[in-house]
Amino acid sequence: MSYPTTSRSIAGPGQQYRIEVSPGRHLAEPDHHAENEIGPTGRPYREIPMPKPLDRHGPATVVAVCNQKGGVGKTTSTINLGAALAEYGRRVLLVDLDPQGALSAGLGVPHHDLDETVYNLLVPPHTDTDEVLMRTRVDGLDLLPSNIDLSAAEIQLVTEVGREQALGRALHPVLDRYDFVLIDCQPSLGLLTVNALACADTVLIPMECEYFSLRGLALLTDTIDKVRDRLNPRLDLGGILVTMFDARTLHSREVMARVVEVFGEAVFDTVISRTVRFPETSVAGEPITSWAPKSTGASAYRALAREVIFRNAKGA
Ligand SMILES: Nc1ncnc2c1ncn2[C@@H]1O[C@H](COP(=O)(O)OP(=O)(O)OP(=O)(O)O)[C@@H](O)[C@H]1O
Ligand SMILES: [Mg+2]
Repeated sequence: MSYPTTSRSIAGPGQQYRIEVSPGRHLAEPDHHAENEIGPTGRPYREIPMPKPLDRHGPATVVAVCNQKGGVGKTTSTINLGAALAEYGRRVLLVDLDPQGALSAGLGVPHHDLDETVYNLLVPPHTDTDEVLMRTRVDGLDLLPSNIDLSAAEIQLVTEVGREQALGRALHPVLDRYDFVLIDCQPSLGLLTVNALACADTVLIPMECEYFSLRGLALLTDTIDKVRDRLNPRLDLGGILVTMFDARTLHSREVMARVVEVFGEAVFDTVISRTVRFPETSVAGEPITSWAPKSTGASAYRALAREVIFRNAKGA
């Protein structure tokens, strides 16, 4: 079977070239599960339809990708969920809210050299959001990049009036243009993360499938409850994404069973397996959906995108 190809521009700083892509090539094949087939969560897969094409865009659902534990797959999930949503024709804005700039680096952006970043959106004198906004190599996927400058924002914001709403104010003018805004939080529950939670509709919590990961989740859900009470009543726990799962180990399966016991329906059916392809994509500066489009990792993030679109449409 052949698929139509279109060209798309690749706009990384310092590079402008075009590549041929085949939209829809890997999308037309959602995983078919037999009725009552048990998935890695230990539950039967839920029926998730193929996302419908959109004829207009916005306003965006804002998703904070958040876990104060480090190295659990926040940045990897932000990039790859974003790219998979874009493959389904959604307009997506990724926000790098970590001074390490891993999200920007993971998309091939030389963030150390940037003068205008998310920092300039949060701290006076405020820059226009459009001046910081960049296109990425993936069609429909834009980025607000960050670098180490952002580490100063947390301290500078402390004395500002409405310090928890600084990010929300910066995003407000562009929300109508996007279907999803995904915010990659740093591994802390400090003021930057509170800013993300204060302007989000939902929180997506990536969680490494490992026993000690469960411990920190109570503190995180407590913070989410506080932000909901005090700053953002519409904030909702969008879902728990289990990452770095290894079906061969009893440990992984035991942790999974416990996560499902505690969080029930909030746990996505999609589970991200541990694979070396993800560290490789960070080096390549590209999402797995374009770097290794047929890999199981790419399929998993596409399945997650379908779940996210479905959950969001249900709540609309
Ligand atoms: N499913 C996976 N399998 C194997 N390695 C993975 C997987 N997901 C992410 N990784 C790797 O694990 C490391 C941490 O992932 P990532 O940077 O996404 O986590 P993070 O939660 O954003 O970390 P931090 O808290 O430091 O921001 C990276 O090297 C990444 O490539
Ligand atoms: Mg990260």
